[in-house]
Order: sequence, then structure tokens, then C-alpha cells
Amino acid sequence: MPPSKEQIIERGKECEGIVTLLSDPISADVIEQLPNLRVIAQYAVGYDNIDLKYATERKIIVTNTPGVLTETTADLTWALILAASRRIVEADRYVRRGDWKVAWGPELLLGSDIHGATLGIVGMGRIGAAVARRACGFEMKILYSSPPTEADKGLQENLGAHRVDMDTLLQNSDIVTVHVPLTAETRHLIGKTELAKMKPSAVLVNTSRGLVIDEEALWQALRSGRLAAAGLDVFAEEPIRPDSPLLELENVVLLPHIGSASTQTRSTMAKMCAENLRAALAGVRPPNIVNPEVL
Ligand code: DGY
Repeated sequence: MPPSKEQIIERGKECEGIVTLLSDPISADVIEQLPNLRVIAQYAVGYDNIDLKYATERKIIVTNTPGVLTETTADLTWALILAASRRIVEADRYVRRGDWKVAWGPELLLGSDIHGATLGIVGMGRIGAAVARRACGFEMKILYSSPPTEADKGLQENLGAHRVDMDTLLQNSDIVTVHVPLTAETRHLIGKTELAKMKPSAVLVNTSRGLVIDEEALWQALRSGRLAAAGLDVFAEEPIRPDSPLLELENVVLLPHIGSASTQTRSTMAKMCAENLRAALAGVRPPNIVNPEVL
């Protein structure tokens, strides 16, 4: 179980540095009660569990582990794209339940093709781009929505990826995958209105943060057949609530936030996190500082 706020305060009150997981609530009231704190070393690339604004005001260094989990998370995104589009988990359940009674059926567990389909990437950062590179092997058309950057030309030339507005992406994609950090602006970025713009045959995948999608609206869309399927590694509340209606749907693949969970990547993240902590405590600029303005 992750520690409660009270436990973090109790165990951390003497500490100058703490290592945090994304399940640790490092809110302003927690930071306020850690008087010696100089560095928060997050063991993740995302840090929406930390009140960054308040930590920065208090001149506390915050670090994270970017880059090293990019490819691993892109791999898992593809596992979800494949599983949700081709109904892999549903088919596995079908076999195990003993429902496979006829050797072969022309209409048994029909899914959607991935090769040649249009992939919509919401958020073309490091992970989004790694997902796009893999899509080339499936000869997909790639659309993405992101603020313009210098990388756009390369994405167009090397991957044939087109930057479009969000509506165009939603209306034209067969598979939509989400790769934005959770901020006030991205909370419920995909809600009822956005889901209504997607093709009814489309698949939605999320390996970023659960709150980027309005889960209630997604459930309605999946249940009503407004959306064909979804693959989710992240949820509004983690662990998922035992009474979540998503658990009752066949057309959604649910994973317990394992995007970066390979032995190699978790070990690299741990080393990176320790190095950030060590450097900050030694008074040296940590390699992965999120709020360099505190230096
Ligand atoms: C992260 O790093 O933010 C992932 O969600 C977990 O590795």
C-alpha cells in the first residue's frame, strides 16, 4: 500500500531528500510539514502527484526520470492497440471459459485491421513519437495533434505524420492513442463531445494518465456501441474501483498501470532517480531537474 499523507510526513519530517512514486500524494500540505526538504526525486516521468508550484515556491528541487521509459511505454501502447483492436483478451477469456465449441467460424470474434488504418496520436512528445515509429511497420497513416514544434518537419518527412487539429484527428482516426501529461488543461481532454466525434468503429488507447479521459463518458460510449473498443493502462482512480462499471465491459482491455514495467526500464529508472537525488543533495545540478528555476 502507498503511504498516506500522515505516514509520509511522519517518516519524512527529518529528511532533506525523498524518493517518491506516482502513488505518493506530495501536496502542498505535505511539503509544508517537511521542513528540511531540499529535493523530491520522483521515480517516474510524470509528476502530477506533486504540487510542483508549491515545491518551487519553497525552492525544493523536483526531479523525474524522462527518456528511459519512452520505448517501453510505446511497446505497451502497441500491446493495447493490438489487444483492443483484435479482441485478444476477450478471445483468451472465450477459450478459457470453454466457449470454443466450433472449430472455426467466419464471424467469430471479428476485430479491426491495424495495418493500413489511420492512427491518431494525441500528444506527439517522446512517447507519442515512439508509438508513431512503430506504426510505420504497420503501414499506417499517422495524424497527430500537438502544439507546433521544430520536430514537425522531421515527423512529416521521416514518418509521413501530419499535424492536424484535434477535431480532424478524432473524426479521421481508426485508433486514437493518448500521450499527454495530466495538467489543468488536459484534464478530461477526451470527454463526451470528443468521443462523439470519433468513428463508431474506432479504438481508444490511453497509457498517459486516467484523468485525461472522462471515464464515465468513455464507459457510456463503449457500452452503447458508440465506440468499438478501448485499451486502458491508467485510470481516474488507481487501483481501479472494484465497482467500476468498466470491469463489466467485454470491449475494454484493462491493465494496472504497467506502461514502463519491464525489468530493464524499471532498473534504469531507479538508477536515474538515485543519481538525481545524490546530485541534488551534494549541491550539484541534478541531470533531470523539472524546476530549474529553483537553482
Ligand atoms: C510515469 O513514469 O509517469 C509512468 O506513468 C510510470 O512509469
